Amino acid sequence: MLLRVENLRASLVGSEKLILKGVNLEMGFGEVHVLMGPNGSGKSTLANVIVGNPKFKVVSGDILFEGESILNAKPHERVAKGIFMTFQSPVEVDGVRLKQLLLTSYRKIHGDDSSFYQLEREMKRLAEELGLRPEFFDRFVNVGFSGGEKKKSEILQASFLKPKLLILDEIDSGLDVDALKLVLKMVNALREQGTSLLIITHYTRILEHLDVNKVHVYLDGKIVASGDKWLAYEVEKSGYALVGER
Ligand SMILES: Nc1ncnc2c1ncn2[C@@H]1O[C@H](COP(=O)(O)OP(=O)(O)O)[C@@H](O)[C@H]1O
Ligand SMILES: [Mg+2]
Repeated sequence: MLLRVENLRASLVGSEKLILKGVNLEMGFGEVHVLMGPNGSGKSTLANVIVGNPKFKVVSGDILFEGESILNAKPHERVAKGIFMTFQSPVEVDGVRLKQLLLTSYRKIHGDDSSFYQLEREMKRLAEELGLRPEFFDRFVNVGFSGGEKKKSEILQASFLKPKLLILDEIDSGLDVDALKLVLKMVNALREQGTSLLIITHYTRILEHLDVNKVHVYLDGKIVASGDKWLAYEVEKSGYALVGER
């Protein structure tokens, strides 16, 4: 098993109020899972807790990655294990150039022996594929990027880093059709290389371009229903609440 979330309860640091109220989730190697649920139900919180965002604290339960608990691992240690997420609202990191960030992270995940020129060539190739200029890498991470550029930067980072588990938090929100196609192409390429994906989305259009193993419906801090991709179409037809009640 790649990822196993066991009865996970979590809140913001300094708050008693649970946002995650007993999440259970299992993902095998190379699988693609879709997580759908209403705004404010805690989907982004789940993603953030899996990557170890210090804003949140785990109250009970466990997160196992490749069979080992990662609860005590720092965020950068989780990256090194191969866990990576793209953010719904990517933050600007002033003073850190995208190229620096990518090289440092890549070496943390895959070791130091990859040649700089090879990595630089791979960055250029990915940028071209996404219609971004090579100068993009010399800019500070997300500083002054447009909404679309931020999303592309996120998927570019993921494509370059080739994590074992990639969590995409609403990568498809606010992207125009052409940008979405490019992003999905890269997502498919990652999947073919064996990356497992947890895709948080409101839309079924992503399912038309991607084979998914499982769809989960998430309501008020936990997964309430799981099924194949038809579950997503049912959600689209009947709404989250009805599907969750069954
Ligand atoms: N940094 C934060 N500060 C205050 N409240 C937060 C923060 N992050 C999440 N929350 C609250 O936790 C709940 C779940 O939010 P979130 O995980 O973003 O939901 P979703 O991604 O499903 O829309 C919401 O009520 C939200 O207001
Ligand atoms: Mg969210």
